[in-house]
Amino acid sequence: MYYLTVLVTVSADSLVELERACTILEREGGGRGFQLIDAAYLQQEGLLSVAPIGINKLRYPMEVFGSFLANMFPFVSSQFSHRRGPLVGFDLVSKAPMFYDAWHKDLSNANMFVSGVSGSGKSYTVKMIVAHSILHDIQTAIVDWEGEYADLARSMGGIVVTIDYNSTNLMNPCEIEEEDYIDEHTGEKKKRVDINEKIDEMVNFTKYAASLTGTEQLKAAEIALIDRLWKQIYRDEFGFTEDANSLYETRRQMVGDKLQMRTRRKQPQFSDFYKLVVEEAENDTRFIDLRDRLKRITAGESLGLFDCQSKVSLSEAPIIVFDLSKLHENSDLRKLGQYVALEYIIESFIKKNPSQKKRVIVDEAQKALENREGTPAGEYAAVFLDNAFTRIRKRGGSACAASQQFSIFASNKYGASIIRNSDTKLLLKQNELDGPMLKELFGLADHELQRLYDAQQGEVRWDVNGEIVYSYYKATPWEHKLFNTRHVQAEEGA
Ligand SMILES: Nc1ncnc2c1ncn2[C@@H]1O[C@H](COP(=O)(O)OP(=O)(O)OP(=O)(O)O)[C@@H](O)[C@H]1O
Ligand SMILES: [Mg+2]
Repeated sequence: MYYLTVLVTVSADSLVELERACTILEREGGGRGFQLIDAAYLQQEGLLSVAPIGINKLRYPMEVFGSFLANMFPFVSSQFSHRRGPLVGFDLVSKAPMFYDAWHKDLSNANMFVSGVSGSGKSYTVKMIVAHSILHDIQTAIVDWEGEYADLARSMGGIVVTIDYNSTNLMNPCEIEEEDYIDEHTGEKKKRVDINEKIDEMVNFTKYAASLTGTEQLKAAEIALIDRLWKQIYRDEFGFTEDANSLYETRRQMVGDKLQMRTRRKQPQFSDFYKLVVEEAENDTRFIDLRDRLKRITAGESLGLFDCQSKVSLSEAPIIVFDLSKLHENSDLRKLGQYVALEYIIESFIKKNPSQKKRVIVDEAQKALENREGTPAGEYAAVFLDNAFTRIRKRGGSACAASQQFSIFASNKYGASIIRNSDTKLLLKQNELDGPMLKELFGLADHELQRLYDAQQGEVRWDVNGEIVYSYYKATPWEHKLFNTRHVQAEEGA
């Protein structure tokens, strides 16, 4: 038991304001179950009790339990526990700045899932995190469905890779890169090639690509063929092995008195695989359907943009944006582009520079799954994203998916796995229809749900490995212009 006296001092610049403040306090206090006793004729004792010495001269003690005392404080968290990392907002209650270190030792991964209804402020929040991360030497690659990160990247020294039929930037999803890694035992920097992982990914890519045409499930014989042919391509036809030298024509060597540099070998591309499927279909009619479904993915066809040798130069820029907005809105090509860009980022960005902190953002992550819920294409897109999150996590990176349709993820086994396996979850304003799923996946209490239904634009509920904080962010005018790009562009266009 404790003896408790709560003392409140009211101050104001004028008598009118003072009386108004006292009226509000009496009204609000009464409504919340507090009975206020004013310290009439006890001004001196009152003043000494609150300042400067803080010894209670007024008395009026209540007997309370410790838990009651704790409950009197309406704080969710007076201060978030991370001491380092970029500024990501201000605690909604205490107004304390909130710093967030995705690589904090108490977190098992740096992955992040951001969800909220359209217009709730997901992209705004993500842009703010990206911008503030630069000062902390965190490099970010962004799969940008809407083309809304380009201005932010350019104004912060980043680069924009536009994906389009007229662009000179070419991405080949089949390309495999040697990977830099640090040997756990010796601490030495080494190189390797993860062929098995790549083969698995290309099998999934092909299943996804085939599923974009028609709604039928692939048959077991077709899946077995896809698997066999990709192994054949990487291991036998191109002769790639786990040894990084296998990706080069020649070793770096002295020829006479000259140092001869290595040249990279040509990489497999989708039509190399397709050619083998065509040959198989000539001898076995079971594969004719697969052949026809995959034709769209080859050069010159409607989804053939990525049947090429890569030509993109990624510099050491702090932000690299892959802008997909030039591809037709909601087309299969843009969906395929989202997949290919993420695959490319894993090969060329995540597999390099192991000591650099790296983040990969997929905004509008639901797009590849949208309108395909419950179909094979939706399933394979979710598998790919889930795998991508694991591959990035495995290499110490931070993968971040932002989605306005929480339920698309939650209702899919792989989508739910992305949410569950992300140590950091950001919830912005939510739709009441998603209440039951939100409750199940995040273990939210009813009052927390209500709070999310009523959330203001830009208000964020952070769940960082179980630590809950509500935050907001008030940008400077210069920042607001950058985070609000879409709005500004729309105005300019009008
Ligand atoms: N913290 C904030 N401060 C001020 N304005 C904000 C804030 N967050 C969001 N907004 C305003 O809300 C608009 C919509 O935000 P944003 O584009 O981030 O929504 P979204 O959740 O990404 O929506 P969508 O799912 O449609 O992409 C912003 O352009 C901006 O004007
Ligand atoms: Mg957005």
